[in-house]
Amino acid sequence: MNIKKSKGSVVYVALSADLLHHGHMNIFNEAAKLGDIVVGLMTDKALASNNRLPFLTYEQRKLVVENIKGVVKVIPQKSDSYRDNLLAIKPNYVIHGDDWKTGFQKEIRAEVLETVVAWSGKVVDIPYTKDINSTSIANAIKRIGTTPERRLKSLRKLIELKPYLRFLDIHNGLSALIIENLSVGEGGAFSEFDGMWASSLTDSTAKGKPDIEAVDVSSRINTLDGILEVTTKPIIYDGDTGGLKEHFQFTVRTLERLGVSAVIIEDKVGLKKNSLLGNDVEQTQDNIDNFSEKIRSGKKAQVTEDFMIVARIESLILEKGLEDALYRAKSYISAGADGIMIHSREKSPDEIFEFCNRYNSFANRKPLVVVPTSFSATYEKELVNRGVNVIIYANQLLRSAYPAMLDTATSILENKRSFEAESKMMPFKEILKLVSGNDD
Ligand code: SPV
Ligand code: MG
Repeated sequence: MNIKKSKGSVVYVALSADLLHHGHMNIFNEAAKLGDIVVGLMTDKALASNNRLPFLTYEQRKLVVENIKGVVKVIPQKSDSYRDNLLAIKPNYVIHGDDWKTGFQKEIRAEVLETVVAWSGKVVDIPYTKDINSTSIANAIKRIGTTPERRLKSLRKLIELKPYLRFLDIHNGLSALIIENLSVGEGGAFSEFDGMWASSLTDSTAKGKPDIEAVDVSSRINTLDGILEVTTKPIIYDGDTGGLKEHFQFTVRTLERLGVSAVIIEDKVGLKKNSLLGNDVEQTQDNIDNFSEKIRSGKKAQVTEDFMIVARIESLILEKGLEDALYRAKSYISAGADGIMIHSREKSPDEIFEFCNRYNSFANRKPLVVVPTSFSATYEKELVNRGVNVIIYANQLLRSAYPAMLDTATSILENKRSFEAESKMMPFKEILKLVSGNDD
């Protein structure tokens, strides 16, 4: 396209500027030929909503971009959509690498084209710099790994920046790699899991043991260690009852040292059984004073400001009613809890919704966590609209893996060979490519 710079032309460039490279400089050079550059700098929230927690803050990134030749102004772009900023500044040109003509950014480009038509603005697609892009740099950094401190802090940051978080269960390194790497594109954006739930149920079950705290903390930490080695996303640890408060203090320190972001402890005492068994088995709820004291002990033990202790309320599970649950939530927050998890084993989400409505009016409301196992027909949006901050899918990975393995084992026994099961399995060569290091 042969476009001449006309006096007073404004060129709009949107970018994150977290990992600047020569591809960006090429865009700036081309933009400067067309006019004065206004940068729409993606806000921290906009980046986080696309699962890209920035390395640098908005202010730090702004300082860098302001000093690039040709840039006259930097304004925040608050979402992937350019529309609001375009309507506000009506630029003569919008410039971007031509990679956005395909893939998940296609719809964003289409909206830009549709918007600038109103004042005869033009979209300029610059040939994409092939040997570099921010995603490949971000992936290379991810492959190097993270530090315990950075991982630990990331949960609070994500809660602050994203409308809600989505966690999924882990029981070994492979299940954790699914959460680490899976990304599903949809309508100009993509979805990912924000982190991992170190479930007591799936860790115990994967070991062939019941979910009764028989798998001790050392063994649970052993599982975690393998997961920490191959991932970077935040981890919420299912601390069961937390044990004795004197023991809980050591668990808190251990988790913090490893870079785990949060522990959730449930207000039960004695032989703990899985919550979804409810009153079908004998389970005892702890009294408020005792459990509050455990929270206080944990908070006293932690070394960083960032680690979170979330109190899990079992009142609805044990049919003690909504008022009891709300009273406990208030008490646990007063004792220092950084968040509340409310659990239910009803098929309908109604009691959770009721809890949310009342909980939202707390003056010192803390992030709210729910586990929609029994009310699985409820969409994330319905929970988030009622103020839920973290949604934990607590067991779905293991529950889907086991039937698949059982199916294959059955097929081999029935057919006396593995051929019949072949179509349901990944090709052998693929398993070698599944984790890096086999063939390089
Ligand atoms: C777990 O995943 O171990 C939990 C959630 O604690 S639940 O199984 O619903 O109790
Ligand atoms: Mg558990």
